[in-house]
Amino acid sequence: MSAPALERPRADGPPDPAALQERFDATIAAGQRIEPRDWMPGGYRKTLIRQIAQHAHSEIIGMQPEGDWLLAAPSLRRKAILLAKVQDEAGHGMYLYAAAETLGADRADLTDKLIEGRQKYSSIFNYPTLNYADVGVIGWLVDGAAICNQVPLCRSSYGPYARAMIRICKEESFHQRQGYELLMTMMRGTPEQRAMVQDAVDRWWWPSLMMFGPPDEDSPNSAQSMAWGIKRHGNDELRQRYVDMSVPQAAFLGVTLPDPEIAWDAETGHYRFGRIDWAEFKRVISGDGPANAERIARRRAARDDNAWVVEAATSYAQKQAEAAA
Ligand code: 3HC
Repeated sequence: MSAPALERPRADGPPDPAALQERFDATIAAGQRIEPRDWMPGGYRKTLIRQIAQHAHSEIIGMQPEGDWLLAAPSLRRKAILLAKVQDEAGHGMYLYAAAETLGADRADLTDKLIEGRQKYSSIFNYPTLNYADVGVIGWLVDGAAICNQVPLCRSSYGPYARAMIRICKEESFHQRQGYELLMTMMRGTPEQRAMVQDAVDRWWWPSLMMFGPPDEDSPNSAQSMAWGIKRHGNDELRQRYVDMSVPQAAFLGVTLPDPEIAWDAETGHYRFGRIDWAEFKRVISGDGPANAERIARRRAARDDNAWVVEAATSYAQKQAEAAA
């Protein structure tokens, strides 16, 4: 099905709003992409800016918990891998802020909103990294959950977001493997190392399930976001996919997931799992998690301490442009 003509021109004025809406609806229905210059409903633009900004903020804040281990990584090889991974996350943040800019958002304004608590970032990055196995578990579980959630976003209806997600997912896939490889190495090590891995799994498993967002019936945005093709699946479906993927990986690794209710359900063809503590999720996303204050304080300091770099780069770019003109 192809989209109808852009607009029925009116002899005496601007495009017919009904025709614009009709073309937008037809583009979505045909599974085609909306691009920055296309007309789009205000709600679609607003939802995209909200989701893309939250996603970008998550990538940037997500550098902190692992960045804490850069100086303490146990070998040059582990340090090089971790450094590359943390740099990748910075790159993901940049692609995503650039995608938000195509919708008219201003990057500095989005950062201010994050720091002032007016925009969210993923709940997962409000938990501390207490031992080195946390780096491996973040790779395996957190990046694993991110992949489950983000691969469908490569088919999101907004072109710049979908294209950014393709590269991001490829890199996340490397991140997940390096995490799993690190954990496999530790599990082949001493009893103390195996205990560190189990401790990290115990602390990160439940928060990783919360990354997919509230249950569908409590998700105010899902239905409309799916109708617009921004999201392709509901939060619960993706969470279930993640559990189904992770349970055999945990068994292969030799760790126990901290949920006695995990059991294979032959009838549904999925693993059953226990009840998520949604009160904890709400606390964390409203700013009262174990590391929220620390994460935001550090982001604020980074913005303020580095303002001179932005100023210098902007002034240099202006001078170059003037010289070229
Ligand atoms: N953490 C923080 N806030 C969350 C959240 C979470 N885990 N899950 C949901 N929320 C927020 C929503 O943003 C929404 O907030 P708002 O309406 O006040 O803005 C509210 O809770 C209700 O949730 P909904 O389900 O209605 O929201 P969405 O439809 O936006 O779905 C989502 C939530 C599934 C996270 C969706 O936004 C999404 O797929 N986002 C893109 C992926 C993303 O942002 N991932 C973050 C992790 S990035 C990452 O993991 C980096 C990697 O390096 C590991």
